[in-house]
Amino acid sequence: MIKKGIILAGGKGTRMSPLTKSVNKQLLPIYDKPLIFYPLSILMLAKIKDILIIVNKGQLEQYKKLLPNGKNLGIKITYMEQDSPRGLPDAFILGEKFIGKEKVAMILGDNFFYGQNLTSILIKSTNIKNGAKILLHKVRNPELFGVAKVDKRKKITHLKEKPKKFLSNDAITGLYFFDNKVINYSKKLKPSKRGEIEIIDLLMRYKKNNQLTANYIGRGGAWLDTGSIEDYYKTIAFVQAVENRQGLKIACIEEIALLNKWIKKKHITNSIKFYGNCDYSKYLKKLISK
Ligand code: TTP
Repeated sequence: MIKKGIILAGGKGTRMSPLTKSVNKQLLPIYDKPLIFYPLSILMLAKIKDILIIVNKGQLEQYKKLLPNGKNLGIKITYMEQDSPRGLPDAFILGEKFIGKEKVAMILGDNFFYGQNLTSILIKSTNIKNGAKILLHKVRNPELFGVAKVDKRKKITHLKEKPKKFLSNDAITGLYFFDNKVINYSKKLKPSKRGEIEIIDLLMRYKKNNQLTANYIGRGGAWLDTGSIEDYYKTIAFVQAVENRQGLKIACIEEIALLNKWIKKKHITNSIKFYGNCDYSKYLKKLISK
């Protein structure tokens, strides 16, 4: 089982400028909570309690105001700053000490996942022994994504970043599971033309060794990359619609911690004090009055 996870929550946020000029993208709201709650909730659903959040240089204090250390969630949150957005695999170079000799999951701070069976898919994915696992989701416009082709045994046979010629409809989402080789492989990557080390090159390395497999989120699930203004507002509309219809919150991190039996009601009371008088706190109050 993978016990450690990294959230990559830095980045330039160019596509969402000027919104992201002075505020980090992952601190912007997705309906009733900051974007960072959503990837954090995914790691928690995967039963990962030891979490490293990588943020941009100079943005640490803002994050700590929102998520100080994870105590009230029964998890451990540590932070690191990234000097500049060197590329996604930089997570494993910066995170070398944090990962130690273990395996690790990594989620992009701006990725949104939702769906039936998601928890069981996540837990199944943390169960890798060797190699790497990615999560795939069908998209209509694969030419805009990193795309994979898989065989019957869910082994990846082809990988391509933004393929001009059709390869498959399976987009590679921003949630990855790696064995410990990821540190060394990442260190050996050379920057691409755009000057970043690329996750696709890292995945290629695992594929070459015949050690790259995939799981599907499935058609009952949703995956949204909130990185453009359009997709950002689509995600907000999605969360608003689901929450208002069901009366249940998506990515309520305290609720997940309670369901996982990582915390007691008194921790939720602490969180209510921390957030103050708001709808989110009202929801938390309801959770502990049952
Ligand atoms: P991207 O979407 O590639 O980049 P971005 O968020 O900077 O946005 P834009 O393309 O509009 O400039 O990044 C995906 C996620 O990973 C995002 O949440 C930011 C984060 N990230 C880092 O934290 N460090 C990095 O070096 C990179 C490349 C991304």
